[in-house]
Amino acid sequence: MNEEYSLSNLPNLKELVAPNYDNIPRSDVPKIKGIGVLTSGGDAPGMNATIRAVARAGLHSGYTVYGVKRGFHGLWNGEIDEINSREVSETLQRGGTFLMTARSKTFETPEGVVKGAKMCNVFGVDVLVVIGGDGSYRGARDLARIGIPVIGLPGTIDNDIASSEYTIGYDTAMNTAMEAIDKLRDTASSHERCSVIEVMGRRAGYIALNVGIATGAEVVLIPEHPFDFDKDVVRIILEGRNSGKRHYIVIVAEGAGKATDLAVRIEEATGIESRPTILGHLQRGGSPTLRDRTMASLMGVHAIECINEGRLNRLIVYRDGKITDIDIEEGLKMEKTISEEDLARASILT
Ligand code: F6P
Repeated sequence: MNEEYSLSNLPNLKELVAPNYDNIPRSDVPKIKGIGVLTSGGDAPGMNATIRAVARAGLHSGYTVYGVKRGFHGLWNGEIDEINSREVSETLQRGGTFLMTARSKTFETPEGVVKGAKMCNVFGVDVLVVIGGDGSYRGARDLARIGIPVIGLPGTIDNDIASSEYTIGYDTAMNTAMEAIDKLRDTASSHERCSVIEVMGRRAGYIALNVGIATGAEVVLIPEHPFDFDKDVVRIILEGRNSGKRHYIVIVAEGAGKATDLAVRIEEATGIESRPTILGHLQRGGSPTLRDRTMASLMGVHAIECINEGRLNRLIVYRDGKITDIDIEEGLKMEKTISEEDLARASILT
């Protein structure tokens, strides 16, 4: 941590910029001996595989690896223990995160960030690897701004990290939702009903959109695009009925509406019996798919390669079919969204 910052001389984090080590001579890049790893925000299948990859690749490169429990809150609290290679055995296939996670408010204040940085110094964490979403990356960036080098790895089921086209956990969550919706279709079909399914995605509709395509949903509602109930829901269902359909699948991302309300409104407007299902946290659990295990493993190795090359304060990303990395400040300025065209394409096939 930069010596000028302390609890009695708090930094104005907004005025600082995390150093971009690509522009700094190699001789000025801090020497790394200890690497800390934590998971933060909502858990995602594949987080364990990511920790394992960071630990194994880190140990292979000769670093001491520390696991930080309960995200940034655990860092702040000094819940930091050395991890050896055997401790990550048989974690690859397990859902959740054995380091546990938290949505911590601790890092929303300069006091929290300075105390976290102090803990890194005390425990010999020379670089902190943060597995989480954009919110977690902001905590990491603030640490980087006061001199604790960081690396971010994208872990969230929502796929809503702007800098990366793929996030660890997304594939497993979509497969879980798809399998559940296939089952709901069976019963909707037997009873000639409309099944309204709420999937996760408070701010992003990636799960809803892709699962909608994979299950042939009649209607997909996402937070990125406001919808007109009569035009975008009722009309589609009634057109379907007129063309001979006898059951209907409506998928709503939680940020776009509530399945319970929509089911009532659809039944009132169309006379078709409707049932809501909220898939909820089911989507966050389970053994990661092959895609999530391989992405987690290769991204974890890439994180250590960045550290070996002195390329710190980077976010590991998947772009244009490749795992690569970008500067954390740059990555956090990016935005991504789902276009009208992508949404429209999903409904052509129903
Ligand atoms: O992990 C992201 C997410 O899955 C969102 O889609 C969802 O709104 C949120 O987590 C809910 O998480 P929690 O109930 O743990 O706060």
